[in-house]
Amino acid sequence: MDKIKIIGGRPLTGQIRISGAKNAALPLMCASLLTNEPLILKNLPRLADVFTLGSVLSHLGVKTTYQGETVGNHQATFHAKGPILPEAPYDLVRKMRASVLVLGPLVARLGYAKVSLPGGCAIGTRPVDIHLKGLEALGAEITLEDGYVIAQAKNGLKGTKFSFPSITVTGTENILMAAVLAQGTTRLLNCAVEPEVTDLAHCLQAMGAKIEGIGTSVLTITGVSSLQGTIYSVLPDRIETGTYAMAAGITGGEIDLIGTDLDLIPTASQTLEMMGMSFKKTAQGFIAKGPSGRLQAAEIVTDPYPGFATDLQAQIMALACVAEGVSFITETIFENRFMHVPELARMGADITIKGNTAVIKGIQHLKGAPVMATDLRASVSLVLAALASSEETMVNRVYHLDRGYEELENKLSACGAIIERVREGSTHDISETAHTFKAAG
Ligand code: UD1
Repeated sequence: MDKIKIIGGRPLTGQIRISGAKNAALPLMCASLLTNEPLILKNLPRLADVFTLGSVLSHLGVKTTYQGETVGNHQATFHAKGPILPEAPYDLVRKMRASVLVLGPLVARLGYAKVSLPGGCAIGTRPVDIHLKGLEALGAEITLEDGYVIAQAKNGLKGTKFSFPSITVTGTENILMAAVLAQGTTRLLNCAVEPEVTDLAHCLQAMGAKIEGIGTSVLTITGVSSLQGTIYSVLPDRIETGTYAMAAGITGGEIDLIGTDLDLIPTASQTLEMMGMSFKKTAQGFIAKGPSGRLQAAEIVTDPYPGFATDLQAQIMALACVAEGVSFITETIFENRFMHVPELARMGADITIKGNTAVIKGIQHLKGAPVMATDLRASVSLVLAALASSEETMVNRVYHLDRGYEELENKLSACGAIIERVREGSTHDISETAHTFKAAG
């Protein structure tokens, strides 16, 4: 299994191009199931999760072709011309929870779907009960059999009024995709308003769907009998954006983030400003600048958009570990999303968990240590912590990072980070590289 070795303690300066958003790309790819014409997605990130879902779609009969090798220039065509299989098996779905996003489109198009209950990051139980309630409201008959969800709508889905009992991002996306081909009008209340939901709604509109209220918590969808193909560019990744902004913050550096928008991280940028960072918008994105002295402690509560994203919680905790004062980070979206805490503690962090709040007493310097990546965002928080430590850190199990961060090592090393992937069996020692850097001044 690959590892990442980092020797930090250097301010990062340079330019990073932000990739297309993983969490926008995945539902957009599933939207290809709604039409027999090709859907071309530009700015598609080259990530393990994208290729995993690509395999699920290929299995279902979607012709998938990828083009382009560089960040921002990668695109793919998804052509669900048919015949389409209605069944997504466990072996494919278990790798990634977002595969459940094929359920809505399949039942909308075929009137029948059999999809394995999903796997994915181990951050809490993460049920899909609300997805199923939404489909039932649209007239699908749902049964659970041997770990599979079977959804049937022999006479097609019917427009309805459905209020999400709590906010769910992929739940909103699944039901929205089901409703666009349902007969009649569907009114969805208490929808997630994450930018990735809005991105999906815009793409569906470009495919001919009739949707009102985009960007709000109430979506009104007038069903159409068919959709067409389109060319659509995936939204920039706001979590990657926030992560690299924090890399500038934790190292006291200055990073020019391009291909993104500061407005995608409203609460995170405000919080980081309070911690001592500054931001300047540019024509192509924005510049994130770390403080000249130490970061300051903060109080953070995760919330649905536009609140502080749970997907940035682990990363900001790395910053809190070296900030001056005591920080409080409360996680309200997922239980069991503090798995990075024991790993950060291995690096010397002083963190106590009280219920769903982490209390972090900032220290001057983190130590290097071998640490274990446990989920996607936890892994990158360890990378950020390692960038702040002048000692060597080895992050194990980096396959989690490959699920969500395109070219992480290249992007960071372009800004001066000493970071290297150690492939299994490789013996190269980057402390020599670090030594050369130090000798060079
Ligand atoms: C999506 C994101 C994920 C992010 C999360 C919250 C994708 C592919 N993933 O995940 O990166 O961390 O939003 O912003 O977009 N819940 C239920 N029943 C359901 C569905 C959800 O109880 O049927 C609960 C979940 O357990 C969780 C909360 O609702 O506690 C929010 O989850 P949800 O918004 O659905 O997260 P995902 O869409 O899975």
